[in-house]
Amino acid sequence: MHILFATSEAAPFSKTGGLADVCGALPKALSQLGHKATIVTPLYKCVREYFERSGERLTPLRGVALDVRVGAVVKGAGVRCAKLAGSDVDVYFIEHDDYFYRDGLYNYQGVDYGDNCERYSFFCRAVLELIAALELDVDVLHANDWQTGLLPVFLEAAYKSRSRFASEPASYFGVRPRLADPELPPNRFDKIKSVLTLHNMRHQGRFWRGAMELTGLDWSYFSYDKMEFYGQLNLLKSGIVFSDAITTVSPSYAQEIQTEAFGEKLQGVLQNRAADLTGILNGVDVDDWNPATDRFIAANYDVDTVLENKPKCKAALQEQLGLPVEARTPLFGVVSRFDEQKGLDLIADLAGEFIEKENAQFAILGSGDRALTDRFMALAARYPRNFAVRATFSVELSHQIEAGADVFLMPSRYEPCGLNQMYSLRYGTLPLVRDVGGLRDSVVNASDENIDAGIADGFIFYWGTADDMAKAMHWALHCYRRRPNDWAKMMKTAMSLDLSWEQSARKYAELYEKLIG
Ligand code: ADP
Ligand code: GLC
Repeated sequence: MHILFATSEAAPFSKTGGLADVCGALPKALSQLGHKATIVTPLYKCVREYFERSGERLTPLRGVALDVRVGAVVKGAGVRCAKLAGSDVDVYFIEHDDYFYRDGLYNYQGVDYGDNCERYSFFCRAVLELIAALELDVDVLHANDWQTGLLPVFLEAAYKSRSRFASEPASYFGVRPRLADPELPPNRFDKIKSVLTLHNMRHQGRFWRGAMELTGLDWSYFSYDKMEFYGQLNLLKSGIVFSDAITTVSPSYAQEIQTEAFGEKLQGVLQNRAADLTGILNGVDVDDWNPATDRFIAANYDVDTVLENKPKCKAALQEQLGLPVEARTPLFGVVSRFDEQKGLDLIADLAGEFIEKENAQFAILGSGDRALTDRFMALAARYPRNFAVRATFSVELSHQIEAGADVFLMPSRYEPCGLNQMYSLRYGTLPLVRDVGGLRDSVVNASDENIDAGIADGFIFYWGTADDMAKAMHWALHCYRRRPNDWAKMMKTAMSLDLSWEQSARKYAELYEKLIG
């Protein structure tokens, strides 16, 4: 099978969050299972910088110039290509500097670019033009999040010679979907199945209805059962309606998003497609996140040496952050986007109490929301011996916190999957999480039964309030201080889990196979 991933970010080239990790790792895992996997992603400024820094090869595809339709005009796109390190995966970068050579991926200093709809509509069409230009034999087109939500739409409405949307709605609305480019071999796209993965329902790509013009699609598609959403154009909804299958990144989130509490107003659309919706838990890139080989941490360790060497990582982290180097002082770690989603305000609410009564330490890395950053900065100023915050993006420090902390905090309000709790498990740093989404699916609570059964590997709180989180933190501290044998057992349980991408990749492969029959 040949699976082509279209994504607005892919690690290590471009990244704002977990989407990039997934789109860098899943294709690699599929290719290791013997499938052909290809990635297509924009050539951003940071991608060029990555290649300059790393010295890896980024080859221009000479002679390949894509004609990409944007509304009524056609714009050119160049293509460059590279290999994903350590794999057979081809990565094609779509080059159009007006759209992509910018400082941020989606926004600048917190303000979204005004032309995001145009940029990603262009990108989606460019992906399809690339398939045509290189005559790629693709079985599955795998889109991710709102940025590529138009891909299944274009595939169905403008590239296939026979669209399943052509027959019924076509006669109903009088639409006549046709090939955008009559020179294309008529059948190249016909066999392609589309999959859309929902990494986060909060971000939907909602735009003024006039943006429909940019898509070049007939206005009849702007209807409540297709691309329209409360008077706006909604790219994520469009993708959900038009793709052959929909996945999301954990089984629990797949259920949650069909309810009002988590569906972000698309629960009805998702209920309609429930039969085609699956949740597959993300994996971990076990080469990148391996305490036995991690080059960023003070001492390497595995399940046999964790008790001896993890404390060295803790001491190094404390020292680096200017916290007193004390082996038995409990250290809570956080690596996160500062966003309402992540529930970090609960940590800001509780830190003072845990510092004053328990002498706990906090090591926090993240960036985003201004008000939350200010609250954390104020705590750091008030408690310099206990509270350290670094408001930046640092891969190195993120590894050091994963290795050095005792407990990793993730009180998310919602969490489609979450990767950091899984990185924590690999590093023997017990995660303390809210009972939601992928957190629920990846952490086993330290109840007495679970500890006895040897399956506990973290702490879960259920109600999402500060009180409730405080109880879980107190329980974690109790176990840490008074039940060292149980703690060691939980660390080892966590570190022995198989969190690799292989298992998840097999589930995706099964789904693709079912789709293409
Ligand atoms: P989300 O995608 O919602 O942000 P995930 O847990 O899926 O959450 O993934 C977040 C990814 O981004 C992880 O790889 C995490 O280590 C990384 N990350 C987030 N903030 C930072 C930061 N400030 N510095 C380094 N890495 C970060
Ligand atoms: C999103 C979600 C996160 C998930 C990631 C990768 O950013 O917020 O929970 O792990 O996508 O799927």
